[in-house]
Amino acid sequence: MPKKYKVAIVGATGLVGRTVLKVLEEKDYFPASYTLFSSSKSANSKIEFQGTTYIIQELKETSFTNGFDYAIFCAGGEVSKKFIPIAVKYGCIVVDNSSVYRMDPTVPLVVPEVNPEAIFKHNGIIANPNCSTIQAVVPLKPLDDKYHIKRIVYSTYQAVSGAGRAGIQDLENGANGFEPQKFPYPIFNNCIPHIDVFLDDGYTKEEHKMINETRKILDKPDLPITATAVRVPVLNCHSESINIEFEDNIDLYDIKILLQNSPGILVIDDIEKNYYPLATKANGNNDVFVGRIRRDFSVKNGINLWVVADNLRKGAATNAVQILEKLIEFKGYCSD
Ligand SMILES: NC(=O)c1ccc[n+]([C@@H]2O[C@H](COP(=O)([O-])OP(=O)(O)OC[C@H]3O[C@@H](n4cnc5c(N)ncnc54)[C@H](OP(=O)(O)O)[C@@H]3O)[C@@H](O)[C@H]2O)c1
Repeated sequence: MPKKYKVAIVGATGLVGRTVLKVLEEKDYFPASYTLFSSSKSANSKIEFQGTTYIIQELKETSFTNGFDYAIFCAGGEVSKKFIPIAVKYGCIVVDNSSVYRMDPTVPLVVPEVNPEAIFKHNGIIANPNCSTIQAVVPLKPLDDKYHIKRIVYSTYQAVSGAGRAGIQDLENGANGFEPQKFPYPIFNNCIPHIDVFLDDGYTKEEHKMINETRKILDKPDLPITATAVRVPVLNCHSESINIEFEDNIDLYDIKILLQNSPGILVIDDIEKNYYPLATKANGNNDVFVGRIRRDFSVKNGINLWVVADNLRKGAATNAVQILEKLIEFKGYCSD
């Protein structure tokens, strides 16, 4: 009988948690048995998953004494801060979706298409990067390997689902004339250049996350990067304009082929036919969609990309499940 690993999904009732369950359900076989946790608010509610009705458990300090092998945390920073050290103490390996541990030098920050080798340097915690960062580094990595990135300019157009259930509520309520509860201004009919809190240098924390996490994942601590992160009235899927300057001479045709052949990327780029990545097309997909691949004529070796991905899937759930899969593959689909 193959061993089934005991896996906890913390925040299973949220947008990311429910997407984790969807992604797991789509797998042919995953050697795991699951326990689903939430706060007291959703505790005892039911979720259908893999043909079984699961009763949601309230997360408590004693929850991890049961000996979980793995956990995916998707319940926000405060929950991660309090409960992950407890889970790790009881021998559980955690994949965390919050930003709490991402820049900790002892915690690997992993996108499996980019730096899979980092997974196994963990001390119990592996951090899932910010959703906007994940979809950016997937195309940046092969380009950096070949042409050596010199500078990046990010401009993001981020969906309301990136702010959880409350973000979606604000857009839906705004369309009906209600005041926002989550965002500082109505998001309906608006673009808000303000995601997460403002820091002393005038940038937002979201912009800092993109800059710092990109440097850590690409292992280029001094790479010049700037970012503007904007919330837009789109339900799901983040879009990004990425301007990249390279050290080496580039060939645009070769760049398209390189991206086409890189893992996790779907190139959609035929302007004759008006083919380019769209949020409505990326919705529900695990791939990162890349298009509008063109030269930046203002510098010697620069390009612009339009990059779209499902922030709940590749930006969170899919990436976390890929990490879990690698951990389990490494341990082996072994017998008891
Ligand atoms: N949304 C995205 O695109 C995205 C992308 C990348 C990373 N993330 C990160 O993923 C995490 C979850 O985001 P989300 O968008 O899924 O948020 P969400 O839709 O608001 O869901 C939050 C989840 O956390 C649970 N929770 C809240 N307090 C808890 C507590 N004290 N103990 C146990 N569970 C608790 C909630 O349970 P109840 O049902 O009981 O309230 C719910 O299941 C956040 O750290 C976020 O930054 C989100």
